[in-house]
Order: sequence, then C-alpha cells, then structure tokens
Amino acid sequence: MPITPTPKIWMNGELVDWEAAQIHVLTHSLHYGMGVFEGIRAYETADGPGIFRLTDHIERLHSSAKILMMTLPYSVDELVAATKAVVASSGLPSCYIRPIAYYGYGEMGLNPLPCKVDVAIACWPWGAYLGEEALTKGVSMKISSWTRHDHNTMPPAAKTTGNYVNSSLAKVEAIKAGYDEAIMLNRQGFVSECTGENIFVARHGKLISPPLSAGALEGITQSSVMTIARDLGFEVALGDLARSDLYIAEEAFLCGTAAEVSAVNAVDDRPIPCPGPMTTAIGEEYGRAVRGEVDRYKDWVEHAR
Ligand SMILES: Cc1ncc(COP(=O)(O)O)c(C=O)c1O
Repeated sequence: MPITPTPKIWMNGELVDWEAAQIHVLTHSLHYGMGVFEGIRAYETADGPGIFRLTDHIERLHSSAKILMMTLPYSVDELVAATKAVVASSGLPSCYIRPIAYYGYGEMGLNPLPCKVDVAIACWPWGAYLGEEALTKGVSMKISSWTRHDHNTMPPAAKTTGNYVNSSLAKVEAIKAGYDEAIMLNRQGFVSECTGENIFVARHGKLISPPLSAGALEGITQSSVMTIARDLGFEVALGDLARSDLYIAEEAFLCGTAAEVSAVNAVDDRPIPCPGPMTTAIGEEYGRAVRGEVDRYKDWVEHAR
C-alpha cells in the first residue's frame, strides 16, 4: 500500500520534517533485523483522533525490546506523549501509526549492544488492510508451506523486524497462489496465526484462538475481541487448533490492528460460512469500540489532543 507523507516524523525526541527523517545505509538494524516496532491505529472520534490502546502498544514495544536485551532510551510515558504529538501534528482525523526502535549507525557485527538505539514514530493515512469488504465478503486463506518460527529460533512474543521475513515469505506465497492471506502452522503442526493477524475459529459454537505458546503474537486486537465476544455472550478461549478445525470451521475471522476484524470465506478452497453471526456481531462492535462509541470500552481510546 503506498504511503502518503504527513508533515512530521518524531525522531529521537524531536518532530522533524517527513523528508528529513533519513537514516544511514550502514544502520545496524537494516543489516541484522534487530529492530522492534508497533502498528497502531487512530480513529476519528467526536473529540479528535482517538488512538486505540496506545499505552498497551507502547508497553508491548518495551516488552519486545526487553526480549532482545535492547535498552529503549524513552519510557512508556515518553513514547505515549511522543505518539500523541506526532498524530496531533499530522492534522489527520484518523491514521496508522508506526513506532520503531532500532540499532543505529556506528558499529557493525552481530553484537548490537554497543550500538546506539534510535527511535522514530511516523503516522499516515491508511485504509482497510485486507480491503473494505473484508468483514462482509471475507478473505480467502492458504495454509502456508512456511512453518511459523519457533520459540527457540525467533521469539514470537517480540514484534521484531527480523521476525517478519517469515510472515513476508508466507504472504507472498499466498498472494502468488491467488489467495488473500496465509495461515501459518507451528512446528507441532497446530495453527499459530496469520502473517500479521491472529485467527479465531468457531467449533461447536465456541471461538478459539491460538495463544503465544502456539507461536502467535499476543495481539492487542485479539485481547479486545475476546473481551467483546464475552460481553456479547459468546464462548471464547485461547487454545490449540488443528488443520482440520480450519476446514470444518462454523465460521472464522482474522483480527489485528491493520486488518481489524476480517471474515474468512475459505481455507485451502474449502468454503467457510461467511460472515458468520459471531464474526458480524464482534466486527461491528469492534468498529464502534475503536471509535469510542461504546461506554464500557472508552478507556481503550486515548486522545491525541
Ligand atoms: C504476526 C502478527 N500477529 C498478530 C498481529 C495482531 O496484533 P495486534 O492486534 O496487536 O495488532 C500482528 C500485528 O501486529 C502481527 O504482526
């Protein structure tokens, strides 16, 4: 998806012009993939842009850095304030936000610890990641031939730039084969997640989503969806899913900051009822929650100004 520039990017404590937010080609993380990042959305609300679960995202950025033994030079509160500043400076009613922390220029070699840690936060307008009709018409899924990376190879709890080689391989394979998205299985053969989304599958009337132990990122949307599902009276749990659970699902959906709630209409050419009743109810309530329209979820929305 093409990027639309906005006036400013926050870099190492300052708002700089979009064009001036440059890095050197010998920046350490560009070579070895040791960066951590987040994807956050701000939605239009009556009180200006509302950033969905901003503090939770910045806390996860800190957790990702901790796993890598990367010391972030800014606290959670400082990065929350910086994110609000960059969103306010954009003048946009809604946007996608990308904080990233990376080892900067100055050292080369596989020990990153002597490198300086740089932090940047950008935002720009971004539409529906899997298409405007993903909630109603659904997306087609392919089970990837690529195995989800494992706990003792690349830690799935860390949203590390290098982890996304695995996701991109699966995404490209799925698109080239004519599907919209990939589902990745873990080394044990159980369902893990998608390339940038968690998955929920309904079996025997109950929604199940694979947890971190299955190799999935602990999605902030996944946790929001579980709360919403329970509040709507649906049975929902984290748990293991086998490949055949996907093929005979009563309904299924993906969720993530970028993809929001997107229904699944088929897995490996086996049609799935789409959109299912739980998918529709949860997707619609999620849409209201992110816009600050549901009182019980108002704390999830943090205003930029
Ligand atoms: C691999 C992966 N899984 C799941 C998710 C969903 O996470 P969240 O809901 O926090 O955006 C993402 C998006 O960040 C992701 O990249």
